[in-house]
Amino acid sequence: MGAPLWEALCRAAASVGSGFHTPGHNGGTGLPEPLKYWRNWGALDLSELEGLDNLHAPVGVIAQAQQLAAEAWGAERSWFLINGSTVGIAAMLLATVGEGDTVLLPRNCHQSVLHALVLCGAKPVYLEASWDSTWELSHGPTLESVEVSLASYPEARAVLVVHPTYFGATGEVAAIARAVHAQGIPLLVDAAHGAHFRFHEALPVCALAAGADVVVHSAHKTLPALTQAALLHQQGSLVDPGRIEAALRLLQSTSPSYLLMASLDLARAQMVNSGHTLLAGALVLAEKLRAHLPFAVLAMEPDRPVPGLAALDPTRITIDVAGCGWSGFAAEAWLNQEAGVRAELATHRHLVFILNTAHGLLDIEKLRSALFALAAEPAPAGALLSCPVPRPRPGEQRLTPRQAFERPHRRLPLAQAIGCTSAAAVSAYPPGVPIVLPGEAISAEAVDYLLALTAAGGEIVGLDPQGRLALCLD
Ligand SMILES: Cc1ncc(COP(=O)(O)O)c(C=O)c1O
Repeated sequence: MGAPLWEALCRAAASVGSGFHTPGHNGGTGLPEPLKYWRNWGALDLSELEGLDNLHAPVGVIAQAQQLAAEAWGAERSWFLINGSTVGIAAMLLATVGEGDTVLLPRNCHQSVLHALVLCGAKPVYLEASWDSTWELSHGPTLESVEVSLASYPEARAVLVVHPTYFGATGEVAAIARAVHAQGIPLLVDAAHGAHFRFHEALPVCALAAGADVVVHSAHKTLPALTQAALLHQQGSLVDPGRIEAALRLLQSTSPSYLLMASLDLARAQMVNSGHTLLAGALVLAEKLRAHLPFAVLAMEPDRPVPGLAALDPTRITIDVAGCGWSGFAAEAWLNQEAGVRAELATHRHLVFILNTAHGLLDIEKLRSALFALAAEPAPAGALLSCPVPRPRPGEQRLTPRQAFERPHRRLPLAQAIGCTSAAAVSAYPPGVPIVLPGEAISAEAVDYLLALTAAGGEIVGLDPQGRLALCLD
């Protein structure tokens, strides 16, 4: 009897060349030493034995480890998450908004935010996303757009922003926190990609230091922690920690993996003890890499200010390959097959590489020479996107995400869905930012874009295996 997943996993692990992607432990080389050198991981796969505490009512070692995490990130309370930031986002929304409540959030949020709205029943009002037309990327909402929405929707019960985006872009989060607090409501931050910010001053500000009330961190993305290990932090008096705890009890397994929780504890200890030095190394490598590349690199340009873009994570290298005729999808495949280099993310024209604390000079040189080889290679014909990228604009919102989820559905191919109400979020994955939102009318622009993305080699999630979309019946 074969075990196809196990076999594929072994092949993938054996073929790892140079990876510039999550998890942040770099194929195990960057794991904290106790975990890296532990021979029999099966022996660590335990449950709530004597002395090991209970995640859902922690009074012993889990409580201590969570308290140390709170101290490390400067929070009042921190909780261990064993289902990624996805579960933290659901918990922070369940803890702060309920059925029919208004929550302000950016349109370019991760699909887990939309899924959390299905759970809590809140009504999203989308903040105007800023749009970088040169890079065809949307960054965070501007302070001004948050202020305008707060004034237009005084009934809003919470604001959620992403800090940073998948591309490492951050907005004016401290000023946004002040504006949100002036209304007496909390700022929730999806900082899935920003767990490392706290540990080096050259990185953008940590959302907690900027005053956010609840923050979620995918430790596994940028720290040496195992996949799915994440953190939820809270501070201040605007959100009741008891409600967060109740939400986490609802959402998290009663059999949490001690391996995941221990990897969070160890990653925290490593970052507190030597994170600054490790990150300083990664920052030097990032600077060296950025200095000499054959493609344009996303950077802060003082003579090209972009609204909503206040700072970029230097350890995230976003390049634009379309200038050389490549799509990001084709370039990603070429790099993987021909050069043994793996990117974190490809879009129709971008590649994103993540530098972590375990990368060394050899990795950087390998990436650089692979990119020069790519630039010298003729691009495959017809790989580029055949239609413009739609700006993320609010569409006609007919139902809340929960109402859309609960309505009876029918399924139709994408091309026949124009004008219908979507029952689901449809995203290119990664980055998982929905192009069609649940409860919204489906525009011709979005359908054209999704079809063009699929034709160009992008992976779409939210459709069934026949490529059909779930639509709400009236
Ligand atoms: C911006 C953002 N938020 C949340 C998530 C969900 O994080 P996790 O995979 O840890 O559940 C992701 C995942 O890629 C993300 O990119």
